[in-house]
Amino acid sequence: MKLLDIYARYKKDIQYIESELEKNVHSDHDILKETSIHLLKAGGKRIRPVFVLLSGKFGNYHLENLKNVAVALELIHMATLVHDDVIDNAVTRRGEQTVMAKWDNKIAMYTGDYIFARALAVVTQLKDPEIHQILSKSIVQMCIGEMEQIRDFFNTDQSIRNYLLRIRRKTALLIAISCQLGALAANASREEVRALYSFGYNVGMAFQITDDVLDLCGTEKQIGKPPGSDIKQGNITIPMIYALQESDLKESLLFLINKIKQNEDQSDVNQFIQLIRNSAGIEKAEALANQYIHKAIHQLDQLPDIKTKKHLHDIANFVLSRKY
Ligand code: IPE
Ligand code: IPE
Ligand code: MG
Ligand code: MG
Ligand code: MG
Repeated sequence: MKLLDIYARYKKDIQYIESELEKNVHSDHDILKETSIHLLKAGGKRIRPVFVLLSGKFGNYHLENLKNVAVALELIHMATLVHDDVIDNAVTRRGEQTVMAKWDNKIAMYTGDYIFARALAVVTQLKDPEIHQILSKSIVQMCIGEMEQIRDFFNTDQSIRNYLLRIRRKTALLIAISCQLGALAANASREEVRALYSFGYNVGMAFQITDDVLDLCGTEKQIGKPPGSDIKQGNITIPMIYALQESDLKESLLFLINKIKQNEDQSDVNQFIQLIRNSAGIEKAEALANQYIHKAIHQLDQLPDIKTKKHLHDIANFVLSRKY
């Protein structure tokens, strides 16, 4: 099922969040306004705020309460993207130029800080200190995940466990807490909050695995950014880890990775991508994402049978088959 068809059922509320996002990044400072609106208008799936809203349906759904959680999470996510593109030296995002490419790295760093500060202002509207703590902890984890990724650049001797721990931190926890905080802000029961957290966590793991597969198999048009970005910066992802386990491929892969590390040559990158695509790495990564999606869907059994449950199910399946 298409994401937009699922979203259509919540159109009015999603549009409200969209207008709140715009209102919240607004600045009297011309450059800050331009850079943040540029990223906002480029689009994006808005999966985190949508998870907040849908999870809120399991409690007392008040859009005014949930809005602050949804907007804060999307702003935090956006801030990390602007910084991520500096770290990853990425020139396209959401099909548009990144802030660092259209302006420069310095402007991107402050744009990220600015969006983060705007997120903080929204967070102050949330009175429950438990929500503040959860947010802070997950952002700390995200930083640790990204730092570990830097430590492990071009490390071809990584375990699957190491990779999973890293993506848990850098991606899955923020998606997990989107569900958790939506449910918490709506006063859902503890069991429901826990089940939704676990749903989000498992979807989040699958989400990063599919992101890593798309970086190797997607086209620039589909993913809104050039493929091969991961290996260019030395980020060894799960399809690569699986492919490195194939004895007949290992030597040529190591040779190419070493060449890419020395001198980022596009023809080496293309050759590397081709080798991974022809390996069992992609299929194995997809099977792993599938396992996480199964676990996520299994969590839904603990939730009451309201329509939203089916929509969460549909989004989980979208994550598995997504092409963008
Ligand atoms: C990109 O997140 C960063 C990852 C965690 C893979 P999204 O794929 O949710 O990015 P947008 O918001 O849709 O652009
Ligand atoms: C997710 O990883 C980044 C964050 C947690 C901010 P990526 O670096 O793979 O994200 P994309 O592929 O650039 O969107
Ligand atoms: Mg990155
Ligand atoms: Mg990136
Ligand atoms: Mg990526």
